[in-house]
Amino acid sequence: MYELSSLPTRDRSGGKLKRRVAILGSTGSIGRQALDVIRTHPDLFEVVALAAHSNAELLRSQAEEFSPQYVALEKGSPSDLDAMSYRAALGPGSAVRLASLDVDVVLNGIVGFAGLAATVEALESGNTVALANKESLVAAGEWVMELAGGPAGSPESRLIPVDSEHSAIFQCLHGTHEREVSQILLTASGGPFFETPQERLNHAGPEDALKHPTWEMGRKVTIDSATMMNKGLEVMEAHHLFGVPYDRVKVVVHRQSVVHGGVVFEDGSAVLHAAQPDMRLPISYGMLYPERADVGAEPVSFEATWTFAEPRSDVFRCLPLAVEAGKAGGAYPVALNAANEVAVERFLDGALEFPEIADVIEEVLERVPNFGSADNLKSLQAVNEIDRRAREAALESTPLRESRGEARR
Ligand SMILES: NC(=O)c1ccc[n+]([C@@H]2O[C@H](COP(=O)([O-])OP(=O)(O)OC[C@H]3O[C@@H](n4cnc5c(N)ncnc54)[C@H](OP(=O)(O)O)[C@@H]3O)[C@@H](O)[C@H]2O)c1
Repeated sequence: MYELSSLPTRDRSGGKLKRRVAILGSTGSIGRQALDVIRTHPDLFEVVALAAHSNAELLRSQAEEFSPQYVALEKGSPSDLDAMSYRAALGPGSAVRLASLDVDVVLNGIVGFAGLAATVEALESGNTVALANKESLVAAGEWVMELAGGPAGSPESRLIPVDSEHSAIFQCLHGTHEREVSQILLTASGGPFFETPQERLNHAGPEDALKHPTWEMGRKVTIDSATMMNKGLEVMEAHHLFGVPYDRVKVVVHRQSVVHGGVVFEDGSAVLHAAQPDMRLPISYGMLYPERADVGAEPVSFEATWTFAEPRSDVFRCLPLAVEAGKAGGAYPVALNAANEVAVERFLDGALEFPEIADVIEEVLERVPNFGSADNLKSLQAVNEIDRRAREAALESTPLRESRGEARR
């Protein structure tokens, strides 16, 4: 027997069931593009909740436009959210509370480790998650996949990838048997520095690293693309999402960012997914799965040349560091992620040179055996503790450089 109030609402005008969505990180690059999709298709979606960290002004204007029932702001004052017709939650943990609302899909577009608690809350409360926050899988992949009910694409799974490469692989895997898959392909744009000589990289500043050749994204993921840490995090993400061993996840550099990912089968054939580099495509697919919507993206052009190359792992050390941390498992991926977040912030502040991002991560990884037990990383408390210790270690290793007078400014 269903409670009447729990039945989904039907849009009688279009005859279609509206997807009821909660957008966490609505003021960020993923969140804003999700709202763009919804603006284009108001008949397909109902925005139930919006959450942000501290950008109260944008959150308020989004709430005015999309009329959600709930709004959350992690950092702000009560006056930031008053005089509106929604229920407001304010303060640390408020975005996480919205993850358990009764919705059809929670889009997690929060950046960094902060997104893990929301992923866990959404899955534990039975919600389906369209996941952009790759750090959730990096820090607690095994636990998150257990909560999700199974690998992405399996009938019982409640996790839908939004990262463009993983959305591509997800689509390529449709109708295939696990035993037939010999390799998962992740493409990488190579970032702004792919062709830059190593000696120039030593003096690359934030303004250079933030110039991504093909994608417009938030600052953290853009720096991660420049160091190729992003691809390392994505290798871990793919390993967990699709239950594929690390040695069967292959990274290829594809400067055009049109082929996003693919699957190679045991008979040597491959299925690749191509689309213009437009995040509205995987975001809308994640929110509408298994349906699609025209979001106004340009069609794929078959006139351009597509190239593929091996990544330069000797120069971009973050990629092999991440893969090794993933293979080591336990506390290593949590520590790598935390060290990277600290190092990226310090680089953006001008306190670290570009190559020092990898140095900090390396130093922190060496200290992982001192971080305590990582036997059971299946609670937020346990994962948070490793994250905290790794951040401390990363911060300890950065002022040292400044005192040696090696900082950029
Ligand atoms: N951008 C892309 O094209 C892209 C592509 C693939 C994957 N991703 C992944 O998607 C995630 C989001 O990336 P992004 O580029 O959209 O980042 P972004 O532009 O920096 O936006 C981050 C969003 O998260 C919110 N936020 C930050 N800390 C929070 C917290 N503690 N609690 C609640 N909300 C918080 C921010 O709110 P405020 O605005 O108030 O600070 C903002 O809405 C990342 O994991 C990234 O790797 C992004």
